[in-house]
Amino acid sequence: MTELHRSDDVDRDWWRSAVIYQLYIRSFADGDGDGLGDIAGIHAHLDHLVELGIDAIWINPWYPSPMADAGYDVADHRGIDARFGTLADAEALVAAAHAAGLRILLDLVPNHVSDQHPWFQQALAAGPGSPERERFLFRDGRGPDGTERPNDWTSCFGGPAWTRVVEADGRPGQWYVHLFAPEQPDLNWDHPDVRADVEDTLRFWFDRGVDGFRIDVAHSLIKEPGLPDIGARAWDKQPPRVAPIPGVNQTDHPHWDRDEVHDVYRSWRAIADSYDPPRVFVAEAVVPDVSRMARYLRADELHTAFNFDFLKSPWRPELLRTVIEDTLREHAEVGAPPTWVLSNHDVARHVSRYARAVQVLGVNLSELQGPVDLELGRRRGRAAVLLSLALPGGAYVYQGDELGLLEVEDLPDDALQDPSWERSGRTDRGRDGCRVPLPWRAAAPSFGFGPAGAAAPWLPQPDWFAEHAVDVLAADPSSVLQLYRDALAIRRAHPALGDGTMRWIERAPDGAAYGAGVLAFERDPGFVCVVNMSAEDVALPAGTTLVLASSPLADPTTLPPETTGWLRRG
Ligand code: BGC
Repeated sequence: MTELHRSDDVDRDWWRSAVIYQLYIRSFADGDGDGLGDIAGIHAHLDHLVELGIDAIWINPWYPSPMADAGYDVADHRGIDARFGTLADAEALVAAAHAAGLRILLDLVPNHVSDQHPWFQQALAAGPGSPERERFLFRDGRGPDGTERPNDWTSCFGGPAWTRVVEADGRPGQWYVHLFAPEQPDLNWDHPDVRADVEDTLRFWFDRGVDGFRIDVAHSLIKEPGLPDIGARAWDKQPPRVAPIPGVNQTDHPHWDRDEVHDVYRSWRAIADSYDPPRVFVAEAVVPDVSRMARYLRADELHTAFNFDFLKSPWRPELLRTVIEDTLREHAEVGAPPTWVLSNHDVARHVSRYARAVQVLGVNLSELQGPVDLELGRRRGRAAVLLSLALPGGAYVYQGDELGLLEVEDLPDDALQDPSWERSGRTDRGRDGCRVPLPWRAAAPSFGFGPAGAAAPWLPQPDWFAEHAVDVLAADPSSVLQLYRDALAIRRAHPALGDGTMRWIERAPDGAAYGAGVLAFERDPGFVCVVNMSAEDVALPAGTTLVLASSPLADPTTLPPETTGWLRRG
């Protein structure tokens, strides 16, 4: 039995403390030279992940796909897109990752499939009223000729959530729901075929040793019967993070966060628990408050969820403290470990967000405001890493975070591929700026993303990526890469870090309150974290010794502005 698959309790609970690296396969490393990342590229760079010190990787969709939404339009959940490799390559990668001490999570996309999925093609061919159409959400249009869409739902990428099909006789016909792009028709989760098929997909990958799944849009899936208009319902109008209303379980939204979705997760949990070791799930559940999110994490449902409140929080101490407190309280209610996330493939990179002079709630390029101070963003980014890795629970690292990458804000218009760009009438530049292929070697063509003579990367890399190349950072002891490696090594060895609890420290050594700009907490045994978000130096707590700091200290007892220190008590 490998070290990874011991069946003692510590090993079974690995996910409660795990640091998971989000591996965006298209942009990680290109092994075959076609300009797109692939499984061979991952295989060739497993050493980078081992040296980094993470526990697991989550790989974004690698299934056959027309790539209308970068692989989130899945044509076959139980295969591998030829551009990424073969099923045998995937199996070999799972084995190699396990041998290297890394677990693997895949991305499950249960809300929708590609319009090229055989089921959707069969539904189009079979026509209105057919059993094939029942697996999706087809409806007749409103109005005398059915020319008006059946309800007022909108697509997350802009425009209506309905597209009208042309029937076999060449006439305009029924409409179908797509909460994302038209190439991503929503499945009908009231249909037994849909439930059975996704369960088969879970087993297919679990049988191949995959350790778990990230669940795409976990708050969707179930739609209110009758598909009513959203109209003026309250949900979208609530301010974020409202207090839970006792006894009210419905969010009153016809397609987000419906209570019936929890039955789906109960049945998946039973499947995951039937494996040895049990497999795990992480939810992408975007819901109005953390108490609603915690419902996905009840003991018989999903294991963890991305903490979007933390990710979305501006770099402001009072907001971060509230998010941390709310997160800890609501997760404790259901016995689930929190996670701490700074960036992912859907949001502008955190260094660029924190570089904005005005720190507002918002994670996309179009929402960021104010003059940009990149040095400040970098400094805050490093401080945020040590904060996120010190808090109780698990943490995520989005590929390129460890290289201190910034958002690429000036990609040429004709390079943009995110469906939001065209669907918004070219007003929303979308998410490509955080998806640019990684730089590995400063002096190599495509910065070592592809082999010599390879096609150009699928998104152009700016010249300044050279400064962030792995070989440059690995040679610099003060680099952000070294900070991640040091922090992850300490975290792995320290009994206080990972799952557990924390206590705030409210007072500086002179007895004065730490003030509005400082977050300080301790964890047993003997670990203290101080985040100085103010513009002034702050004294470190009495009786502590510095172990690691996100920026250099001029004096070992004083933490400079925008810096996090990890300390040993005693
Ligand atoms: C994924 C996105 C994707 C969308 C539709 C999201 O939550 O993270 O990248 O576009 O789901 O599948």
